[in-house]
Amino acid sequence: MSAIPLRLFPDSASIGADDALSIGGVRVAELAAQYGTPLFVYDEDHLRARCRAAVNAFGAGNVVYATKAFICGAMVRLAHEEGLMLDVATGGELHTVLHAGVPASSCVLHGNNKSLDELRMAIAAGIHHIVVDSFDELDRLEHLHSSGLPVVRIQLRITPGVHVHTHEYVSTGQDDSKFGFNLNNGDAHKAIARAQSSAAVDLIGIHCHIGSNVFAVDNFEEASKVMVDLFSTLNLSDLTLGGGLGVAYTENEEAPSIEQWAEVLQRATQSLPAGSKVSVEPGRSIVASAAVTVYTVGTVKPIEGIRTYISVDGGMSDNPRPIMYGSGYEVCDPARMSADRTDSARIVGKHCESGDILVESASVAPNVSVGDLLVTPVTGAYGYSMANNYNKVMRPAVVFVSGGSSRLVVRRETYDDLVRLDL
Ligand code: LLP
Repeated sequence: MSAIPLRLFPDSASIGADDALSIGGVRVAELAAQYGTPLFVYDEDHLRARCRAAVNAFGAGNVVYATKAFICGAMVRLAHEEGLMLDVATGGELHTVLHAGVPASSCVLHGNNKSLDELRMAIAAGIHHIVVDSFDELDRLEHLHSSGLPVVRIQLRITPGVHVHTHEYVSTGQDDSKFGFNLNNGDAHKAIARAQSSAAVDLIGIHCHIGSNVFAVDNFEEASKVMVDLFSTLNLSDLTLGGGLGVAYTENEEAPSIEQWAEVLQRATQSLPAGSKVSVEPGRSIVASAAVTVYTVGTVKPIEGIRTYISVDGGMSDNPRPIMYGSGYEVCDPARMSADRTDSARIVGKHCESGDILVESASVAPNVSVGDLLVTPVTGAYGYSMANNYNKVMRPAVVFVSGGSSRLVVRRETYDDLVRLDL
């Protein structure tokens, strides 16, 4: 296998004369020495460039960043500075955004089972609008209004009955889904009628999100057509077409660009009356390829005739995606970027499970040794945000790099953090 392609790395990634990887003008080895490993390294300019690409493609005010993909104070401030709204799916995400100094008026609340407390918190904080997912949620909003809270703007999440080509666990637009009001069984029309006659809510639009990591733009086209047909029968201002654009994780994957996605959605919505506001909610396509994870190799175990296991100092706690969805990643040695990857190994973590696999069958440069660094690119989405403390492993630090310098934006957890909830 030849060297790992640079296109999987953040925009600013470069290879020095000594064959070492730099991101944002900072050598990855230096970052590892300064901040320790495992470490998430985000290219800040790449993040900003993707935010700007989305705003350019869809228009200012029409892009809502799905914070679940990667959330911390620095990221939500960055998205806000770049003019994106923020999708929060829980009270915890809303709290994180408010704590970072971004107002609720820039936020949209999502979730298939929002509690009364979460709804109250969002309305009291002045949320821009709520995407309502169920009849039970409408009951709760009516209850809150009757107990004195103001009328809240809402969109209704519609399940358009569209199947997408992605992993079952991240497919959400089909009839058999916990999300939204089904169009095909009449629930969507019932919800629309109910919301229009409710004194508690101001129905401004409809919403769909068909799934995540979708590579086939046809899927978006199909869903958009269904939504446009429905929207055209209603006298509403807002149509939200969700997120879901796929991203290339491995050498053999190719994903549509934000611009290509926009082109498809614009074509599908061109018949809408002037003044209709069409929004999208990208998460992964903004942040995924902006980051890499840096690990240190701790053990190398060759088993003659079977395979070699290379264990790193993280694993399923900082990247559960391989075991949850069978997701593929590439891996490389940041000190030998142009080396042919002639060895094969399974890259595993430090957790007490055989399933703790980061890359099932990786091609690596020859003779990876204890103490070497290994880097997995494209870990910027649903990596840090799904990180956990299994085996009481501490979550990594997160750094932003740009213009030759780095800054810590989330510190590494400590042993004390691991016991801070114990009474
Ligand atoms: N809007 C809604 C309502 C969503 O539920 C999601 C993602 C998005 C937007 C953003 O989708 P994106 O552009 O990131 O595909 N943990 C999984 C992905 C779960 C996605 C959940 N919803 C993974 O690691 O692949």
